Amino acid sequence: MQQFETYLSRHLPKVRSFHPLYEEALGAMLQAGGKRFRPMLLLSIVDAYEPMLHDSALPAALALEMFHTYSLIHDDLPAMDNADLRRGHPTLHKRFDEVTAILAGDALNTDAFLLIAKAPLREDVKVKLITLLAENGGSQGMVLGQAIDCWFENKPLTLDEVKVLHTNKTAKLIAASLQMGAVIVGLDSGVQKALYDFGIDLGLLFQIQDDIIDETQSEEQAGKTTGNDSDKNSFVNLLGLEAAVSEADALAKDLQRRFESFDETMQSALRPLMEQYLYRHQ
Ligand code: IPE
Ligand code: IPE
Ligand code: MG
Ligand code: MG
Ligand code: MG
Repeated sequence: MQQFETYLSRHLPKVRSFHPLYEEALGAMLQAGGKRFRPMLLLSIVDAYEPMLHDSALPAALALEMFHTYSLIHDDLPAMDNADLRRGHPTLHKRFDEVTAILAGDALNTDAFLLIAKAPLREDVKVKLITLLAENGGSQGMVLGQAIDCWFENKPLTLDEVKVLHTNKTAKLIAASLQMGAVIVGLDSGVQKALYDFGIDLGLLFQIQDDIIDETQSEEQAGKTTGNDSDKNSFVNLLGLEAAVSEADALAKDLQRRFESFDETMQSALRPLMEQYLYRHQ
């Protein structure tokens, strides 16, 4: 974790120009903190299977965090969730302005792929990493989820439809983070698939928990605007808080059982993150 933070602080976007605050805006939300869940998923696998590849994997880990940070900057915009606080700081459009926030998001999105392209990894590995990030983050992944999330504000979806929404907006990038770690260390395609499928349900749980947090935590606790989901198809709005918590508990239990079927190396890789996140809604 510390190594990742050091790497991130040394590889913030650097752009020399006569724009007075462009460079600062590009790095602000990356520096603001966050749980770093997605890079930690990737690096945990790399460290457990091929620790010698840790440094070479750092650009891919940072690419995930840059891509995710772009999605948050855009998610907070007035046209989307209209949020004022993110990672304990004013959102980018509050601190600067909307144009700056839109463009900073655009830049982080594009630069994430550049970072992977330039990583000291095998070319075929990099193509696979870029493909995974694009497939899961783009039109068939996070962006689709965000489109459904915003289009269906105040238009109730079914439980199955909300699962599709959450799977796209959040779970696919989390699943991709696990698979990208597996690709870097060369795990076979069967293991990659099992990890990806596990990651989908882990990501679904992560977003259900996030919906619970919107209802139960103050903005100081969460470090972001909360109580903000009243127009949304969140699990809490669909099921009520108690049933949403029961659903999260049941999913966490199922994930724990599936986690125990992984080999010992994979379990030791992911155990700290499982312990930290499986029951964070309680
Ligand atoms: C928030 O993501 C948005 C979701 C996809 C649930 P995180 O909860 O990972 O936010 P940070 O990165 O810790 O700020
Ligand atoms: C956002 O979901 C998921 C993204 C793809 C950014 P939310 O809108 O629930 O995330 P928060 O609660 O603002 O962090
Ligand atoms: Mg949102
Ligand atoms: Mg939001
Ligand atoms: Mg939320």
